[in-house]
Amino acid sequence: MSLGDYFGLRPAFNIVPLESGHAVLAASLHRTRFARPWSDGEFHALLLQPTVFGFLALRQGGPPRAAGGFVLARAAAGEAEILTIGVDTRFARLGLGWRLMLSVLREARMRDVEQIFLEVDEGNVPAIGLYGKLGFRKVAERKAYYVAADGARSTALVMRLDLR
Ligand SMILES: CC(C)(COP(=O)(O)OP(=O)(O)OC[C@H]1O[C@@H](n2cnc3c(N)ncnc32)[C@H](O)[C@@H]1OP(=O)(O)O)[C@@H](O)C(=O)NCCC(=O)NCCS
Repeated sequence: MSLGDYFGLRPAFNIVPLESGHAVLAASLHRTRFARPWSDGEFHALLLQPTVFGFLALRQGGPPRAAGGFVLARAAAGEAEILTIGVDTRFARLGLGWRLMLSVLREARMRDVEQIFLEVDEGNVPAIGLYGKLGFRKVAERKAYYVAADGARSTALVMRLDLR
């Protein structure tokens, strides 16, 4: 436990570019937030692609490999998509998702992206709240797109943000 934890202070995080060397760290966090986890190898392979980029929230002064969240995106031909984003539940609602997404939007602009898309389950209130606060708007629906472990199907919302 750090001094900050002891005194109930908010832990501080730096947002850094996600590199292939972070694949194990990102995958271990991904499996805590998603029913279908991505392996280290999948993260590694994606991060080697020049169109793929991402960011990691690394804890300041914490253990060297302590991460609070990650985001991964792909940009090509003026369009980008959010591939995945996740924040450790211990650090929920501290603004990490917001900061990770702002880093993606900044990088997307540098890559001359004009529109950025994502898909989200219509029942995912935190994620829809985050995307809405960033200015994403629903542009389409994909009925029965997601299938839960129990076979239940739910609708995906396709959301878009215009960057120019
Ligand atoms: C979605 C997720 C990344 C949000 O991360 P977070 O760091 O907790 O979010 P932030 O603290 O940055 O919140 C930013 C905004 O998102 C919205 N939000 C976040 N959590 C919310 C919640 N539980 N309920 C409603 N809105 C929420 C709010 O608008 C919030 O702004 P506010 O705190 O000023 O009201 C996180 O909940 C997560 O990892 N979920 C599991 C994985 C997932 O579903 N990923 C998205 C797949 S499409």
